[in-house]
Amino acid sequence: MAEKVIIFDTTLRDGEQAPGASLTSLQKLEIAFQLEKLGVDVIEAGFPIASPDDFKGVNIISRNIKKSIICALARCLDKDIEVANQSLKPAKHPRIHIFLATSKIHLKYKFKKAEDEIEMIARRATRFARDLCDDIEFSPEDAIRTERDFLFRIIEIAIKEGATTINIPDTVGYSYPQEIFSLITDIFHNVPNINKATVSIHCHDDLGMAVANSLSAVLAGSRQVHCTINGIGERAGNASLEEIVMAIKTRKDVFSSVYTDIETQQIMRTSKLVSALTGFPVPPNKAIVGINAFRHESGIHQDAVIKKRITYEIIDPKDVGIKGSELVLGKHSGRHALIKRLKELGFKLDDKRIEEIFKKFKELGDKKKEIFDDDLIALVEEETRLKKRGYELVSVRVTTGTDITPQAVIKIEHTRKVYEAKSTGDGPVDACYRAIDKIVGKSVKLIDYKLEAITRGKDAQGLVRVEIMVGDKTFIGRGSSTDIIEASIKAYLDALNKSS
Ligand code: KIV
Ligand code: ZN
Repeated sequence: MAEKVIIFDTTLRDGEQAPGASLTSLQKLEIAFQLEKLGVDVIEAGFPIASPDDFKGVNIISRNIKKSIICALARCLDKDIEVANQSLKPAKHPRIHIFLATSKIHLKYKFKKAEDEIEMIARRATRFARDLCDDIEFSPEDAIRTERDFLFRIIEIAIKEGATTINIPDTVGYSYPQEIFSLITDIFHNVPNINKATVSIHCHDDLGMAVANSLSAVLAGSRQVHCTINGIGERAGNASLEEIVMAIKTRKDVFSSVYTDIETQQIMRTSKLVSALTGFPVPPNKAIVGINAFRHESGIHQDAVIKKRITYEIIDPKDVGIKGSELVLGKHSGRHALIKRLKELGFKLDDKRIEEIFKKFKELGDKKKEIFDDDLIALVEEETRLKKRGYELVSVRVTTGTDITPQAVIKIEHTRKVYEAKSTGDGPVDACYRAIDKIVGKSVKLIDYKLEAITRGKDAQGLVRVEIMVGDKTFIGRGSSTDIIEASIKAYLDALNKSS
């Protein structure tokens, strides 16, 4: 029978300890509601002795959340434990989490205390906490760097005095998967009363191994994992909840003996909420919740994903609350992805036109990182306009600046001949238009000129719309390009071509 791995979320405590990630008590409550929806078993809501708002956060969450266990952190000090207990008073399922450093480094430099004193503090504090609350979690801080025999002794004492969960923190993110596996295995073999407690793991990401270490602990028998949404936390952060949960779900072959109760479809929503409220952006390449996690840009990948999603995706995006995978169009994309997107946008184009658009699409891909739908629409429209072309831009060179008169040298093709003209103007666009007027030999009056960005980003395409008057008739032209001078010329030529 598969056993449940308890998901202990510490976003609101260790996550909030990430420099710059502070949350108000009301923001914490909003996240707690979402964590409850996500199916988190334990919500570590804060460190109540730390500040009045931390106390308020735990208290307000205790009052409102009824499904998950609500946990409050405390040092092994009576005052801390009392305040934690106080903050948890309205909770339906309260838990006090006490911690005490046990490594030689911490004993020597932080506490200046001997091991027997630490044993005594652990004994007293656990008993004190247990007399107040039935659900006690004990963490020997910096467990990874603690002498094993001493660690086993401390754990045994904590369980004897009433701790129901023993959490093993890799406080400084120093460990690696094999070491964690052997430590958890040793704890099971060397702590005589270990079967009276749940063994938990708490990993930091200083060496980028928090998730791998947590999963290794699960394989060794840990049945509770501490984690945070988006992996936020002290320094490099904590093990990320979404990665742990999805690893267990995706690699059922490896984690066949365990499961979690997480509603994985709520993952994306939770990630976005935490990111918005903490102000911590999620890196685009972040596993599971990064914007690129289910996007494909290369032509080979796109083609394969169109044929069968699982060729390049190990997780169904719907399982984490994302509508579907996305084929991002860019310079690496192939014909298949372009055709698919053009069809989705409602264009019915024959093979020849698709070929022409594909060529232009590749040229645009070299200029722009990502090609959005609006870029594609502009490409198709541009291509349609050019089909009926008369005058066509060959090249343009513009010299401009704050202390010189703008000048344009322009080459235009018409009926297979290339014409060149030069002109100055009131601005670079005016210089171009005057040079074009010389070539076409018409008297053209510019009635209106409008420029707008049609796509996003610094490399957005500009769309120019002009209205000109030739004789007594007006003509409208449009042109688009990532270069606004080029877009302006195209628009002018488009209008001129309609006039002839
Ligand atoms: O990293 C750590 O050791 C902690 C403890 C309080 C569990 O966050
Ligand atoms: Zn921590």
